Amino acid sequence: MDLFEYQARDLFEKHGLPVLAGAVATTPDEAEAAAKAIGGKVVVKAQVKVGGRGKAGGVKLAENPADAREKAAAILGMDIKGHIVGKVMIAQAAPIEAEYYLAILLDRSNRTFLIMASVAGGMDIEAVAHNTPEKLLKVPVNTIEGLSKSAALQIIQDADFPTDIAEQAADALLLLWGVFTSEDATLVEVNPLVKTSDGRIVALDGKVTLDDNADFRHPDHVALIDRSATNALEEEAKAKGLNYVKLNGEVGIIGNGAGLVMSTLDVVAYAGEKFGGVRPANFLDIGGGASAQIMADGLSIILGDVDVRSVFVNVFGGITACDEVANGIVQALQILGNRATKPIVVRLDGNNVIEGRRILKEAAHPLIEQQDTMDGAAARAAELAAK
Ligand SMILES: Nc1ncnc2c1ncn2[C@@H]1O[C@H](COP(=O)(O)OP(=O)(O)O)[C@@H](O)[C@H]1O
Ligand SMILES: [Mg+2]
Repeated sequence: MDLFEYQARDLFEKHGLPVLAGAVATTPDEAEAAAKAIGGKVVVKAQVKVGGRGKAGGVKLAENPADAREKAAAILGMDIKGHIVGKVMIAQAAPIEAEYYLAILLDRSNRTFLIMASVAGGMDIEAVAHNTPEKLLKVPVNTIEGLSKSAALQIIQDADFPTDIAEQAADALLLLWGVFTSEDATLVEVNPLVKTSDGRIVALDGKVTLDDNADFRHPDHVALIDRSATNALEEEAKAKGLNYVKLNGEVGIIGNGAGLVMSTLDVVAYAGEKFGGVRPANFLDIGGGASAQIMADGLSIILGDVDVRSVFVNVFGGITACDEVANGIVQALQILGNRATKPIVVRLDGNNVIEGRRILKEAAHPLIEQQDTMDGAAARAAELAAK
């Protein structure tokens, strides 16, 4: 998970890295109030998860609260590389004397952690890395040994940081290492790390990527998820322990097992070509056990997707036999009642298929149609979606 700059700033502050006062605002009013509370000159900064905000006009200095309000009004709603700005951070303005670069990342290809440091930080670091790579120092870190103060100081010296701030910069690097390891990040980047006119080292911008695989160790990371960007149905599915993925198409797909679901997507996309390019709208893997409740939860999520025009339930009975799945579908439709409105094509095969098909036939639900083969069912679901 990538964090917003203001979240990175808060994480840095928690670990003792020097940062400036900052507050988030979603309206010009809030921006003005935040600027007033911080006092003095502030910088209004677009909060989008993409780099190069400064160059895109998403970072603006404001002389006073009224100016902050105006700058926020201009930046909110701005489109930066396809990201619409919904929030700004009002940050205390720093008297910058020099801009540096520090980053720690997981270097997958070399199976190690990597520290990068440069005295040519700021908005052109990409160009520096490309045109003058010798100005960007790269030092691998031994995972077991970690980073000592003396090693941090050595890196800072090798990267040609001025001697008067070398000690402070090394401390900042150590604190950054603390953020990286204790938060289970795969990237922490500070660009710029600045030297202020009064000789202090401060992190002015932060980029952090957290390792989702370590979420179980960090219950507090849940609060960092950007709800506005996640699909509401995906959230609902996750809460119910189902794997649901939204796609762009018209046929809702429910299957048991990742392999079957993946091949169902292919078969539907292929069948859909005959019906004007009908495609899968989403997919939901109900896994091994297809109880009535799981089926009801799954159908409810799939039917809640406004793009869905027909549903294809493709189940191969194994440990959970077809008769259980069939009963699950029948009961699910009872649970859903008139919330179920779209045609459902069911293909059952495998363990206890004869009994499963009989149950569905006997239930004779007006929305359900059975097909014997996967190809036949895909074609029918695509046809119904195209109607
Ligand atoms: N709080 C601040 N005070 C003064 N200048 C700032 C502040 N924050 C950012 N800047 C200036 O704006 C530039 C771009 O901001 P930054 O946060 O790095 O965004 P991005 O990297 O997305 O362009 C920085 O390199 C710095 O010169
Ligand atoms: Mg930056």
